[in-house]
Amino acid sequence: MKVREIMTSDPLTISPNHKVCEVVNIFIANKIDGAPVLDENGKLVGLFTKSHIYRAISRGLDMNTKVEALMTRKILTGHPEDEFGDVVNATVPRLPVVNENGRVVGIITRGDIAKAFFNSYRNMSLELDTIINSTHNAIISVDEKGIIKVWNLSAAKLLGIEAEDVAGKNILDVLPTTKLMDVIQTGKVETFMKVKLNDRYFMSNRSPIKKDGKIIGAVAVLQDISELDKMSKELCYVKELNEELDAIVESSFDGLFITDGKGYILRYNKAFEQLTGIDAHEYLGLSVEDIRRDGIISEPVTCHVLEKKKSITIMQTSKTGKLTLTTGNPVIDARGEIIRVVCNVRDITELNLLKHKLKKAQGLSQHYENQLRTLKMRYDNSENLVVSSAKMRHLLDMVIRLASVDSTILITGESGTGKELIAETIHSNSSRRDKPFIKVNCGAIPENLLESELFGYNGGAFTGAKKEGKSGYIELASGGTLFLDEIGEMPLNLQVKVLRFLQNKEIIRVGGSSVINVDVRIVAATNRVLLEMVQQKQFREDLYYRLNVVPVHVPPLRDRKDDIPPLAAHFLEVFNYKYKKNKKISQAVVDILMQYDWPGNIRELENLIERMVVTTIDDNIAGEDLPSYLRDKVGISSSYIIVSGIVPLRDAVESVEKQLLERAYANYRTTRQMAKELKVDASTVVRKAAKYCIIRDS
Ligand SMILES: Nc1ncnc2c1ncn2[C@@H]1O[C@H](COP(=O)(O)OP(=O)(O)OP(=O)(O)O)[C@@H](O)[C@H]1O
Ligand SMILES: [Mg+2]
Repeated sequence: MKVREIMTSDPLTISPNHKVCEVVNIFIANKIDGAPVLDENGKLVGLFTKSHIYRAISRGLDMNTKVEALMTRKILTGHPEDEFGDVVNATVPRLPVVNENGRVVGIITRGDIAKAFFNSYRNMSLELDTIINSTHNAIISVDEKGIIKVWNLSAAKLLGIEAEDVAGKNILDVLPTTKLMDVIQTGKVETFMKVKLNDRYFMSNRSPIKKDGKIIGAVAVLQDISELDKMSKELCYVKELNEELDAIVESSFDGLFITDGKGYILRYNKAFEQLTGIDAHEYLGLSVEDIRRDGIISEPVTCHVLEKKKSITIMQTSKTGKLTLTTGNPVIDARGEIIRVVCNVRDITELNLLKHKLKKAQGLSQHYENQLRTLKMRYDNSENLVVSSAKMRHLLDMVIRLASVDSTILITGESGTGKELIAETIHSNSSRRDKPFIKVNCGAIPENLLESELFGYNGGAFTGAKKEGKSGYIELASGGTLFLDEIGEMPLNLQVKVLRFLQNKEIIRVGGSSVINVDVRIVAATNRVLLEMVQQKQFREDLYYRLNVVPVHVPPLRDRKDDIPPLAAHFLEVFNYKYKKNKKISQAVVDILMQYDWPGNIRELENLIERMVVTTIDDNIAGEDLPSYLRDKVGISSSYIIVSGIVPLRDAVESVEKQLLERAYANYRTTRQMAKELKVDASTVVRKAAKYCIIRDS
């Protein structure tokens, strides 16, 4: 504080020529008891106070005596910019203040000093109050009797008691556990003591308040540690969580690799070290770019995640040669910034190896499955196919193998050799077995219908067509197998379309324009020698080669006579069951059957056994029960009709007609071909075949 702040400015001054009596009147009128004395130039020359007046009276001096005769000439002065503290010690009761020009600008009296002290005390006290109340710590002080003197705002807040409620009360009545009275007794400072006050924990510092060496009170500063307590518990939990996380990260079988949002490596686990061959702390704090530069990982996924800001999975190779599948996941904070990238690195080297092994094992099991199926087919008659001769066994082995691939198959062989049965076997042993097997007899469907039957048609394609259109056999067979029987009978114009379908697996319905994709496997069959037909321009060469990708030739029965006994036994069982009979065949019959040439192949044998089961009276079928042509044929190769007795001509003619038609049918199957061989009209064949019930299924 400066002198100018506390001085009384422009004080009343007197002249050295003033008489004492005049000064008395001035002092009384201005209620002062002293004044600086200035000469005619305004210069300070002395100080005149009431003491000078008392002295004049006591000496009996004349009241007209001049001031200059009595005033104090040697006086201390102050300067306005002097520190208050420097002048306050001056023992003079009055201190004129003179500026640098020697002019009196003020005076400091004892009253001024008292006022200054009081103001300063008030300011300090206010400051102290503010400090005490603005601290977060509770501050409590008591006097030597324990009466509460200070109770700051934090004390009120933390302890839940307002200052006015405790004012004048004894601390022992308000908070008995502060131990402030102990401090008053011992006079000892106590620091960092944990105390519990009103259910809260505090760290307390207690000190005695001393004056002139005597204890006049005590003060306690209390820091609330309830929050701290809570925080330390939370910290403990976080520590445990961290340990748990460490354990999880370390025990993971997959490699874990974690960076911050800038690609700096924060941690990686043991599995990652093993995958990459790096040491525990080698790359901590370095950048993922260092990992790339050192070739630890071919293509760090972290870089991609940071760039694309989303989860990314890629394959990588590590320096140790491991193949890994790595997924990088960004961890994004509330502001949408990436703060971590967590990569999961899975070693798929083993997995790949296993995959290969599995593939091999699957191939092997497929192989065994095929073999098993072949075996089953061979020995299980439930499949309706009797296979006994070596020729047929080989054929069946091949058929089963072919069944599993999707190639087009052409089955050739004489009529009645079992081509259709082979086609069915191919289908039922293929992966298409649960999808349709559609058979189309190209020789049985009139030429003009065959196209729409095969390819389908759209509504209004031709007169008599259904309004809503119709799908053809090819579409119906979708996913399955289409069996084109008697393919040799297919008209040339249709052959082009079938060829196109075989090439593109696409069809266009009759009267339609859109292309329909159909997944169908084609199996074709014929008893004609297609190559000859090709030479005679009756069959398209391109279609022939397209069909003949895998040829399957079914040998005639005469070339595999070993099959005759099991076939005969098979058909006997079938027809015995069908007609509820119990017929048996004698060895003699089997011998004759073995000698016969079987132009009609298995169908002929089947028909023969059926006829005998139905017609013979005795349960044992004997050689005599066999039709004469067969008995006679054995050992005789004449193709002429031999008459063995007199019978009505009409019956004989009918019998011969019937036998001829049966054989023709057995050999040729189509009425067209039968008519050609018998040298009659096709209509005659149809009529007579109907009369003798020869063609059962058409
Ligand atoms: N190996 C066999 N085991 C049992 N039955 C057979 C066998 N081969 C053929 N068959 C039977 O013989 C008859 C004629 O067979 P399939 O119709 O398959 O011959 P195909 O060669 O198609 O004759 P086509 O050329 O006249 O059409 C059928 O009833 C069939 O069940
Ligand atoms: Mg057939």
